[in-house]
Parts: sequence; C-alpha cells; structure tokens
Amino acid sequence: MNLEKELLTHYAPPERGDEPPYLYPAYGSTVLRAPQRPLILLPHTLSELTGPVYGHNAIGETDNDLTRQHAGEPLGERIIVAGRVMDEDGRPLRNTLVEIWQCNAAGRYRHVVDDHPAPLDPNFTGAGRALTNDRGEYQFVTIKPGAYPWRNHANAWRPAHIHFSLFGPCLITRLITQMYFPNDPLMPFDPISQSIPERARQRLVSNFDLSLTQPDWALGYRFDIVLSGREATPMETHAHGERT
Ligand SMILES: [Fe+2]
Repeated sequence: MNLEKELLTHYAPPERGDEPPYLYPAYGSTVLRAPQRPLILLPHTLSELTGPVYGHNAIGETDNDLTRQHAGEPLGERIIVAGRVMDEDGRPLRNTLVEIWQCNAAGRYRHVVDDHPAPLDPNFTGAGRALTNDRGEYQFVTIKPGAYPWRNHANAWRPAHIHFSLFGPCLITRLITQMYFPNDPLMPFDPISQSIPERARQRLVSNFDLSLTQPDWALGYRFDIVLSGREATPMETHAHGERT
C-alpha cells in the first residue's frame, strides 16, 4: 500500500451513530446551520494528511495548570482532570495534543460574546493544553466551571462542562467534545448533551476519582477519551461547538 492510500485509509471519517445529529430542533442553533441537502464526501489530499505538525517546545510549563497562569490564584473549587486517550483497542495514543477551554467558577467565559452578568476573574483565562505521554495520559489542574445561562430557550442553562479538542498528527484529525461532571442536575434539561444518543452520552461524564484527589488540595475527576470504535467518545466536530 502506498503512503497516500495508507493515510487515506487511516483517516477515514468515523462511522456515524453515537454522534449528535446535525439537526436537533431543541438545540436552536442546529435548525439554522444543519445542512438541508445530503452531504458530499470530499476525499482528503496528501497535503492535508501530512501536515502541519507541531513541536514539543510549543507547550509551556503552566499550559496544563490553569490555576498558575496569572499573578494570583483564580477563585473557585480547584480540581484535577486527568485521563487517557486511547484507540478502539485501548491502546494509548501518545503525543496527542489535548486542549481545553472553559468558563470560570462564576460561569463566565473570557470571550467578547459572553456578556452575561457574572464576574470575570482576573486570574483565570480558562484555556490550557497538554500532550499525552507514552501511556496516553494527560492531566490538567483547573477550577470547576460554573453553570451559565444561554439563549436557546426560556431559562436555559448549560451544565458545568469543559470543552476538549484533540489533535492527532495533522489538522484533519482534530476532534472536539465536552466533558461533564457526575450527577449534574442540569443535564436532563440541556439539549446539547441530550442530542447525543443516550448510550454514548454517559461517556462524556467524568468520574470522581478519590485516587486522583489530592488531600487538602483538589478533587480529582477522570475523563478517558476513546477516539474510535464502539466505545468511542461522542464528538461534536461537525455538529456543535459554536459556543466558546
Ligand atoms: Fe461552553
């Protein structure tokens, strides 16, 4: 098999099934942006499949610790979020760039379109990144994000969540999803998470992990990510993600 064929096979689009549909009327924005005609599959070209690439030196020392990126510590509940990135056979995926973004403890994003009346935190940007190690593991230290209102429907609130982006070896391997927290009472009322088939939705809920919890310092939540296969983590790369 020549290189191009091998790459094209390797990056074949994932089978749909556990991903949210393009059109989910309860999630208002999907009505406007869902395609109205059948999709046409455009084959990727070799230049898309081979680059660009990034180097290790781009990752800074505090990039995976969102509580140490400013002069002081952010307000809120300090948490550790860690997990493994795996393929469908449970093999670790090393050197995967994991990026996260989130609102602060009050539910406010540091973003121009977020103008809801909750305070910004001068010590919290809400963005971080890490590379997985040889065991496919990543780890972040951050602040538990708050719930925030949005304008999808009357009295609409997003459950607490952290946005995740994963990059494989090239740009078209970017995958985006959201991590939720266990037992969040807002989830049943959230059309973004409810748009994901129930069998897969639970894979987006992190697990509280006492072994990851550090005494007198921070609670630990474990969030493993499976990139393909029957147990794949649902991704929103195509359907969602307009909200920062
Ligand atoms: Fe969000």
